[in-house]
Amino acid sequence: MTRGYLDAAVEIAREAGKILMEEFTRPLDIRYKGDEVDIVTQADRRSEQFIVSRLNRDFPGHAIAAEEGTGQDTASEFRWHVDPLDGTTNFAHGYPCFSVSIALAQRDTPLAAVVFNPFYNELFAAARGAGATFNGKRISVSKNATLSTSLLCTGFPVRNRKLSPNLQYYGEFTQRSHGVRRDGSAALDLACVALGRFDGFWEFGLNKWDTAAGVLLIEEAGGKVSDFEGRPYQLGGPVILATNGLIHEEMRQAALEISRREPAPR
Ligand code: IPD
Ligand code: CA
Ligand code: CA
Repeated sequence: MTRGYLDAAVEIAREAGKILMEEFTRPLDIRYKGDEVDIVTQADRRSEQFIVSRLNRDFPGHAIAAEEGTGQDTASEFRWHVDPLDGTTNFAHGYPCFSVSIALAQRDTPLAAVVFNPFYNELFAAARGAGATFNGKRISVSKNATLSTSLLCTGFPVRNRKLSPNLQYYGEFTQRSHGVRRDGSAALDLACVALGRFDGFWEFGLNKWDTAAGVLLIEEAGGKVSDFEGRPYQLGGPVILATNGLIHEEMRQAALEISRREPAPR
């Protein structure tokens, strides 16, 4: 049954990716949600409209939580988490690191996941218990066993940026590893941990639609996802730590150490 959900999600993500690529080559129609950082484009809206209408058609009764607010709540225990364009800021600046992220969860346990970057035609997919794939081939996390030789990734929130503690972590992890990338699409960042491009990722304040697909990809690729206390990551939780498993404890201890320090003066 999960296979059927995944096949549908893959097809829908590919179609939504076509919409994003059409919009990518057009002059942008940027609007702001609040201040001049939180961008929303015609691409976010068109992609979401398409995905939600297809999910409604194929799975009537399922709940849909979609970032731009056009999903619907139902009594179903099945809920689709949809980020129609993850990496809007990159998209709006012509930086081709963005994705469509779609996951089906049953009572907050992801069952099927797809993350698709249409610019590079890179498609990550996973079904619970059936492994994760990259463009159709099975993938697994990296084998790097030490933080000092790891390549990490993180992200920063668009809203309430001044309240984010992450600069402190960013600086420390930069000094303790081969480096920290900030690629601007959390769904793709997580997918890249599943593929082994990154050994670890953390971020504060992500939403369920940012992480639901990436978490399943990593778990099915043999990695580990938790909070900084080591508890299993809950969708929408305040912090996510996602690694190849081998550096998890080292990264977690480092994060706890950083969290105990005085915040740097602003
Ligand atoms: C954002 C991206 C970014 C992350 C932000 C998210 P959006 O999503 O995933 O990498 O750092 O926290 O809000 O707004 O482009 O869908
Ligand atoms: Ca997002
Ligand atoms: Ca988005």
